Amino acid sequence: MSDLEIAQNRVEELHRQLNHHAYRYYVLDSPEISDAEYDALMQELQRLEAQYPQLVTPDSPTQRVGAAPVEAFGVVEHRLPLLSLGNAFNTEDLYNWYTRTSRLLGVRQFDMVCEHKMDGLAVALIYENGQLTRGATRGDGIRGENITQNLKTIRSIPLSVTKDAPPAFEVRGEVYLPRAGFRKLNREREEEGLPLFANPRNVAAGSVRQLDPRITAKRPLDIYVYMLGWAEGITVPDTHMETMEYLKTIGFKTNPNNRQVKSIEEAESYYQSWLHQRETLPYEADGVVVKVDLLEYHNRLGDVGREPRWAIAYKFPAIQGTTRLKEIGINVGRTGTLNPYAILEPVQVGGVTIKQAALHNEDDIRRKDIREGDWVLIQRAGDVIPEVVGPIVSRRTGEEKEFSLIAKVFDKEKGRPACPECGGEIIKPEDEVMYYCSNAACPAQVQERLQHFVSRGAMDIRGLGEQLCAMLLREGFVRDAADIYTLKDKRDSLIQIEKLGEKSVDNIMNAIEKSKSASLVRLINALGIRHIGEETAGLLTENFTDLDDLATATEEKLMNVPSIGPKIAESITAFFRQEDNRNIVEKLRKAGVWPRQEIKKAGGLPLTGMEFVVTGTLKSFSRDVAHQRIKALGGTTKDNVTRNTIYLVVGEDPGENKVNRALTLGTKRINEEQFLALLEKKD
Ligand code: IVH
Repeated sequence: MSDLEIAQNRVEELHRQLNHHAYRYYVLDSPEISDAEYDALMQELQRLEAQYPQLVTPDSPTQRVGAAPVEAFGVVEHRLPLLSLGNAFNTEDLYNWYTRTSRLLGVRQFDMVCEHKMDGLAVALIYENGQLTRGATRGDGIRGENITQNLKTIRSIPLSVTKDAPPAFEVRGEVYLPRAGFRKLNREREEEGLPLFANPRNVAAGSVRQLDPRITAKRPLDIYVYMLGWAEGITVPDTHMETMEYLKTIGFKTNPNNRQVKSIEEAESYYQSWLHQRETLPYEADGVVVKVDLLEYHNRLGDVGREPRWAIAYKFPAIQGTTRLKEIGINVGRTGTLNPYAILEPVQVGGVTIKQAALHNEDDIRRKDIREGDWVLIQRAGDVIPEVVGPIVSRRTGEEKEFSLIAKVFDKEKGRPACPECGGEIIKPEDEVMYYCSNAACPAQVQERLQHFVSRGAMDIRGLGEQLCAMLLREGFVRDAADIYTLKDKRDSLIQIEKLGEKSVDNIMNAIEKSKSASLVRLINALGIRHIGEETAGLLTENFTDLDDLATATEEKLMNVPSIGPKIAESITAFFRQEDNRNIVEKLRKAGVWPRQEIKKAGGLPLTGMEFVVTGTLKSFSRDVAHQRIKALGGTTKDNVTRNTIYLVVGEDPGENKVNRALTLGTKRINEEQFLALLEKKD
């Protein structure tokens, strides 16, 4: 084979891999490799293409901005494409960019602006006559998804802007999830036995692309805008920095860490100082973007391929390290999940000593081919939970052991796999990746459940930490979470046995008493039903008034709640079928832990404030009658879809304009059946 043929084969292989990973990243929000690994593949392709320009094809991943948008949202075309950024990975790359830029401009010195490269999701927001009329994802840069309704739930995105704003303009920015919100979400997921999110970026992307805006609304997303896409009817400022100031004055959130610099050395020191402090930021940044300040220069410099010449992203190195994986351990979660984790030779990564790392599940371990004894690459993703990226195959000695969870927990005496904590039987539901200990009385599970019950997002009983929970179970003070409410009768023996000071026991007693008035959301969350955390509990309380109401609901009724699917519905009914759990509910009732939540009906009538448009012919009744029904329930009707329309009811032979308008605005479309269900449910 000639060199060219070898290169061609490799280029084809890189296309295949990069397309696959771009799809996993942009469309599924579920990447299989780290950003650093992706960048390395892209760089290899760029190098080969530079060496053999004849191998550059129009569909090469180097020529694209992202992956295709998902149809479900309605696709919108960007007036001006949303570009990507060229990368610098070291000082030399940065200085080369500067030298090239100054040569192209024919000037020796020019001002720049340094900004954090936010690790989130790019969005383009269009405002017309002061109102937010459309919000879209980047998609492939040319066409994105209409996610207006979801973006409207983000508090820092203004729905309207001040009078000084241009009559029509598009502003671009990055939607991101602050670290604190990310940590909270993952804690909840861990408690629910759900796979953890890898990093805040994935969550931000996943959240704004939820088909149900109420899920988006529950995620504490934020935005920093970073440029004006286009504007009509004003003279735009001369520089990028002034544009940012201007955007701030008309109501947008801009990053206060943006800095104007006068030389590339200054840009370099901005990068260096944030490289060492980035962990202290409330959000994740994966680098620094250096932009030419004068906008006239932007026009002169133009773009190459998918990247503007007027900016460059100087990436931070991933916080990674290598070490030996001594063993794979198993711990038992609250819902009985057997969670594999890596026990590591301690190693310093970004100033923190790491001894353990997440390994998610057996499928994941197999897919990455991680073996006990391997040298592994570890990464601190999303700043809290270090994870094993993959094995360093070249350092294998042949002594490494492939992992099998069943073999790991195999109990020779029993002649079967057994829970490492209680010896209980192991099960694996067909459609799940996790193995479970089937013994609900497993002490590890009981302890985890108790700790979950008292935790902050649940009943929030301060003073009952891990040690104390373990003691209460060990000494037989409580057998389950509901028994906590009987502790007040055992105050004296508690003080004697554990030598706890009277004061601290009284504090705990007070906290227990106070928790009796916790909301229904907290109580449902506290029960620890598999797949139900704070977020889902919140959705449930919009439809069920108390625990009885929830406990007696059929799967069908549960699935009527938007966003509740068969898996969650099944989990709830299975939970309340178990006698132990029903006993807990009874004990709670007796103890007076019985919050009720009235189901909110805004403005008295169920459809109050909701604007409907009906288009096409309905089978059940005429359009007039449909309008009457809506109005009888407090809704309003219009002939044309507007920004305020909540539902477009689509009958047979619908008006094309109305449907298109709904697509553009991101208005929810429902068919006759869904419409009838809505009327019935509200009746
Ligand atoms: S300016 C012409 N500024 O990085 C491109 N982008 O790789 C203009 N990003 O999709 C982008 N922080 O979502 C710019 N301060 C910042 C940014 C930023 C994050 C993202 C942006 C874009 C990607 C480009």
